[in-house]
Amino acid sequence: MRKRVLFVCLGNICRSPAAEAVFRHAVEQRGLAGQIEIDSCGTGGWHAGEKADSRMRKAAQKRGFEVDSIARQLIRDDFSDFNYIIAMGKDNLLYCRNMCPRNVTPHIAIITDYISSNEHKEVPDPYYGGHKGFELVLDLLEEGCSNLLDSICQELS
Ligand code: 4NP
Repeated sequence: MRKRVLFVCLGNICRSPAAEAVFRHAVEQRGLAGQIEIDSCGTGGWHAGEKADSRMRKAAQKRGFEVDSIARQLIRDDFSDFNYIIAMGKDNLLYCRNMCPRNVTPHIAIITDYISSNEHKEVPDPYYGGHKGFELVLDLLEEGCSNLLDSICQELS
């Protein structure tokens, strides 16, 4: 059975598009592109229709990740359409849990649940900060996405 994974942040122009790209890269490297579908969205709709933030796209591209998604807002149907809803920040996690309809049970988690170190409890929003914030986002996502994929692979087999 195909699995569908949705990454969620606030604006869908920095963290969740990067997560989508990092995760897709890992999925393709493991030859699982036909078995896992990936998307991202934001709890807010202010940036809907826009490309990802150019700072995020450049930082990701330097590491070999192509961030090419167009921003969209989270909708109620996402909770029945996706098996995994993976939040970037604690606020996004809470928002998803509150918005999830009662008759569906996707796996809702935060990406830092898949990171071994306890130093970061969420992926910090890099939007108003400098270059280092974008590198930290990618550092956290590279580990979190790899471990998330390990976990999903156990369910596929
Ligand atoms: P993201 O970052 O949630 O990682 O996409 C943000 C992007 C835009 C804004 C906030 C956070 N904003 O306030 O416009």
